[in-house]
Amino acid sequence: MIRSARVLTACTLALAAAAPIAFAEPQFDNTQEAVAYRQAALRLMGAHFNGLAPVMRGRATFDAAAVQQEVAVLRTLATLPWRGFADGAEGGNAQPAVWKDSARFEAALKNFQQSMGRLSQVAGEGDFDTIRAAYGDVAASCKACHQDFRQRR
Ligand code: HEC
Repeated sequence: MIRSARVLTACTLALAAAAPIAFAEPQFDNTQEAVAYRQAALRLMGAHFNGLAPVMRGRATFDAAAVQQEVAVLRTLATLPWRGFADGAEGGNAQPAVWKDSARFEAALKNFQQSMGRLSQVAGEGDFDTIRAAYGDVAASCKACHQDFRQRR
């Protein structure tokens, strides 16, 4: 009993020491990993964002509860890609300006996060026209960032 308690204590201490590094942010061994991570996260976010488009364009039936649920998923996904734009992780289809002009990139990101926050707020209220307008604002903030910080293909 005593021995296993000691072992457990040792493990707990080791975990506690490692915790701030291990769980705060995803860790990347190299630039390639960071690029792969952010592109995967952006694709996932894009798929869920575009999945709402038929409803927002009036081509599919508006189901307030389903939209609210999907926006909640989107809101979580929208927190992910940015960790992949780590210091020095230039490449992929990101323009060097992401790192060279990081204040402006942060501003574009903040604009996106604010519009995303508004979308998730109004999604809970269930009014189609309000949700559609907020969705349009998010789309505009995606586009604005792509204009300045994504390589044109
Ligand atoms: C703050 C800037 C910013 C915002 C906001 C932003 N993006 Fe992007 N996005 C980028 C950059 C930069 C890339 C290129 C990343 C790379 O290749 O390293 C990109 C790439 C993508 C890709 C391609 C990923 C791949 O390589 O397969 C998709 C899809 C995408 N974005 C969707 C969206 C959608 C949808 C939104 C809004 C809901 C959005 N993005 C908002 C900056 C942004």
